[in-house]
Amino acid sequence: MKKAIFPFILAAAATSGAVASTPVYLDPKAPLEDRVEDALSRMTLDEKVAMCHAQSKFSSPGVPRLGIPEVWMSDGPHGVRAEINWNDWGHAQWTNDSVTAFPALTALAATWNPAMSALYGKNVGEEARYREKDVLLGPGVNIYRTPLNGRNFEYMGEDPYLASVMVVPYVQELQKNGVAACVKHFALNNQEQWRGNVNANVSDRALYEIYLPAFKAAVQEGGAWSIMGAYNKIWNQHCCHNKRLLEDILRGEWGFDGVVITDWGGAHDTREAALNGLDIEMGSFTNGLTSESEFTYDDYYLGRAFRDLILSGEIPESVADDKARRILRLIFRTAMNTDKPFGSLHSPEHYAAAKAIGDESIVLLKNSGILPLDPAAGKKILVVGDNATRRLTDGGGSSELKVKDYVSPLDAMREVFGAGNVDYARGYAAGRPMYGREEEIPAAVQDSLRAEAVAKAAEADVVVFVGGLNKNHFQDCEGGDRLHYELPFGQDAVIEALMQANPNLVVANITGNAYAMPWADKVPAIMHVSYLGTMGGASMADAISGAVNPSGKMPYSIPVSLADCGAHSFGVNAYPGVESEEGDVLFGVCAPQEQYSEDILVGYRWHDTKKIPARYAFGHGLSYTTFAYGKPVLSAKEMTADGSLTVTVPVTNTGTREGAEVVQMYVGDDKASVLRPRKELKGFEKIVLAPGETRDVSFTITPEMLAFFDEATHAWRSEPGAFTLFIGGASDSTPAVAKFKLK
Ligand code: BGC
Repeated sequence: MKKAIFPFILAAAATSGAVASTPVYLDPKAPLEDRVEDALSRMTLDEKVAMCHAQSKFSSPGVPRLGIPEVWMSDGPHGVRAEINWNDWGHAQWTNDSVTAFPALTALAATWNPAMSALYGKNVGEEARYREKDVLLGPGVNIYRTPLNGRNFEYMGEDPYLASVMVVPYVQELQKNGVAACVKHFALNNQEQWRGNVNANVSDRALYEIYLPAFKAAVQEGGAWSIMGAYNKIWNQHCCHNKRLLEDILRGEWGFDGVVITDWGGAHDTREAALNGLDIEMGSFTNGLTSESEFTYDDYYLGRAFRDLILSGEIPESVADDKARRILRLIFRTAMNTDKPFGSLHSPEHYAAAKAIGDESIVLLKNSGILPLDPAAGKKILVVGDNATRRLTDGGGSSELKVKDYVSPLDAMREVFGAGNVDYARGYAAGRPMYGREEEIPAAVQDSLRAEAVAKAAEADVVVFVGGLNKNHFQDCEGGDRLHYELPFGQDAVIEALMQANPNLVVANITGNAYAMPWADKVPAIMHVSYLGTMGGASMADAISGAVNPSGKMPYSIPVSLADCGAHSFGVNAYPGVESEEGDVLFGVCAPQEQYSEDILVGYRWHDTKKIPARYAFGHGLSYTTFAYGKPVLSAKEMTADGSLTVTVPVTNTGTREGAEVVQMYVGDDKASVLRPRKELKGFEKIVLAPGETRDVSFTITPEMLAFFDEATHAWRSEPGAFTLFIGGASDSTPAVAKFKLK
């Protein structure tokens, strides 16, 4: 290092006599690619290599000599995470980094409203910009394959079409702030157990039809500037340097011009990382120090070892050039973007956006008429449950948030119904965050909490139970899957006991996942609420009082039991996989092999096709009003392979108050040469209707909507014949049916 300094200074001194004009790369008006090439032409090999790996937990270097700034990243995706220490995972204890927590992405998906995605991207982007982040590590679009996945709450549900439609406006609006989206985790990171090295064996058809479309939409329609490789393997190769995934599909088929960033610690091999399309390596297992220690950032796979392979001629320098080009492009789009706005932090607009998204996300699963509860009635309400007071923005892993404000359901219930009318009992203890195990709570503690709640319930007019999962390890939390489908902490027993004491029971559970509801037929009302962040309690209380008319629809199915779910119907081979002797050892386990045996039949595709009804189906969600579907009208009875047709269906609000309905259109192929799901979502629209109002909703059917992915030809193909359109308010409720022929 010292040796190099003198020639470098002397060379610079020799040219310093002339007054140079502004270099192209510093000219914000110059075309992006010209700036990239100009900057690249000025960089040394060491500078190019330095850009390809971290310099701290959440940043990578720029080119200090040229005034090209560092890249600063932050989790993601539900708000901007608190500052983390330079070299370890500790919180940096800044006092200016508290934020707005937005609803979990699974809640966003439950709105079925792309306008809410746009609002989300804009607002979270403003916070990221204010916090001076260049890359927000999100959104996540891994498909909901099993209710046990500890990170389902960070994703957009089980359907590729829904996730695709919802992810695009998030990415577009976020990036208008000069902050890159980093769409994650590419691909098949559908479980947390063994996530570091489980090898997912999936057919091309399931990959292209189910697991890739949302990533593709984020890249091609959303224009995402970066993407995060997943921890797991596909085709026995880690996703962060997976040739087929990154080179062939992402870059080759989709034309991605952005940056591939590893998940933290997701790189495992220098040659693969260099040659298979990885650009920035983050979070590898060094002690995180820079250059003085034995094990440094230069020791990353894309550090010194990468440079040495180039110097020895084994890898051409053009490989480093390609990575540097992509990273420069990212920097010009973000850190060096002189047009970007300034952003803002926990503004009233951000709270209003979080509230609006939360309001639209709440799913009313069941209501025998007990809801809404009228605040004017002055009823004595007992709120029971740990989640009524627990701050659910803490924990959960990398999506944790340090919030400036948090409205709990209990506080909001007191605000809406009057403090004197709302009493509280905890009902059960829900443990502290513990790594590696569930906290065991003595039975005597649970018994006495339950007894207290039951005694109070008998005195109340109405009981509102606010339980569910929480963000502790083995719940809705990164780094581990749930250990069982049932509600934890003895909540089923509490719900049964409350029901006996007072049948006016509303269950309003907060969870990012489906769970067993053995009491579903007995309780009069069930609300499904996700983690709604800062304003979550307010959204809940408003939905309970009726100030907000629920309009959320399930973005995933709620099976009666785990055995009813596709991924769990094939034993441990299909989930969580079986350990094998093959492969490397990470986190103490030999590379497990997992078969995606349910193939394309994920979620409702499984329930429908196998005729195993879910307890609550994908797309289900009630309102305080009712809707009726009229007869669908087709623009033609036949369609050619390059044509299209439209279907129009009148939808009427048949109740007495205004409400929103998500009109869903599914397509089924009546007869095919391959197995096809009974029906698949291909269109939806959320409409607001006044009482008595009727609106015509139209969908255009295009040939792509009819196609399946043909593995033999590696192309989408549709077969002539009859197709059925199923239109309605849920995947299991499609009263408007129409048929047409594809010629
Ligand atoms: C998670 C990513 C996250 C990263 C940085 C990883 O463990 O899987 O989603 O962005 O950490 O915190």
